[in-house]
Amino acid sequence: MALRVDFRDVTKAFPGTPPAVDRLSLTVEAGTILALVGPSGCGKTTTLKMVNRLIEPSGGDIVLGDAPVSQMPVKDLRRMIGYVIQYVGLFPHMSVAENIAIVPRLLGWNRARIDARVDELLTLVGLAPETHRDRYPRSLSGGQQQRVGVARALAADPPVLLMDEPFGALDPITRVRVQDELLSIQRKVRKTILIVTHDMDEAIRLGDKVAVMRAGRLVQHASPVDILRHPRDAFVAELIGHDRLVKLLSTLSVGSVMSADAAPADVPAVARTASLEAAFLRMLDTGRDVLAVEGGGSLHIRDLLCASTG
Ligand SMILES: Nc1ncnc2c1ncn2[C@@H]1O[C@H](COP(=O)(O)OP(=O)(O)O)[C@@H](O)[C@H]1O
Ligand SMILES: [Mg+2]
Repeated sequence: MALRVDFRDVTKAFPGTPPAVDRLSLTVEAGTILALVGPSGCGKTTTLKMVNRLIEPSGGDIVLGDAPVSQMPVKDLRRMIGYVIQYVGLFPHMSVAENIAIVPRLLGWNRARIDARVDELLTLVGLAPETHRDRYPRSLSGGQQQRVGVARALAADPPVLLMDEPFGALDPITRVRVQDELLSIQRKVRKTILIVTHDMDEAIRLGDKVAVMRAGRLVQHASPVDILRHPRDAFVAELIGHDRLVKLLSTLSVGSVMSADAAPADVPAVARTASLEAAFLRMLDTGRDVLAVEGGGSLHIRDLLCASTG
């Protein structure tokens, strides 16, 4: 199950400073990932914490499905929301299984159900249950700890998942791997996920939609491709960086811009699911300006140029 999350004119003002979050309105559709991105201090964490009421808004409301969070008992609310933070917060004196089982135990599940759920979740996040269940957090790598953190947040099958810079402490290679895993988990569980990052690449990779914040305000809320094609202003363009076109080509698939025209008989083939970046490299490698798409159709170099302007 997933629930839509609706921010309605939400403001948080801490005393004596400009609002940390300033009249934020946006909807995260059920079962989608919103990536909240912006520089340090722009209000991302405050935005997340207002969803599970670790912080109370000064104005506006957040609605989960049909229910305003301000009117839900905090205990019920937190049960509906998984929360993952940067330094995981695994309890060091508890085994992996015990860490994952915390919420199910609070909910009074029986032993057999808890054990089955722990094994199911470990498998889901890519850790073999037999070899990881009884280990302690300190014996795991950063990436493995982060996976346990995700498993723990999913334990009671909450419809909403909040993730605050969950991969910020990981090295770049582990980070990409864990990002891919999150996407593959999401294909199976279809939660509504709000993920905070200060890294635009991560936002583009993970978000069905990306929300760019600056100084408490929402600057742009759009799909990754739209953000890359039409950054609203110089601030958004700067967050994307100068390799905007490469990012765009790596985000779009061959299938999204190819034509149904048959390709010439002798040209190299490319998969429909390949990125346009891969297709472009193929063109450069082979010196051909058109490729055959596996299963029918073709991709011409002019399709790449059209794709980059939308
Ligand atoms: N408890 C607090 N008291 C006062 N100011 C706060 C508090 N929490 C956050 N802020 C301020 O609110 C702004 C947004 O903070 P935060 O949401 O943590 O930003 P981000 O997560 O984007 O780095 C910052 O200016 C920060 O200093
Ligand atoms: Mg933060």
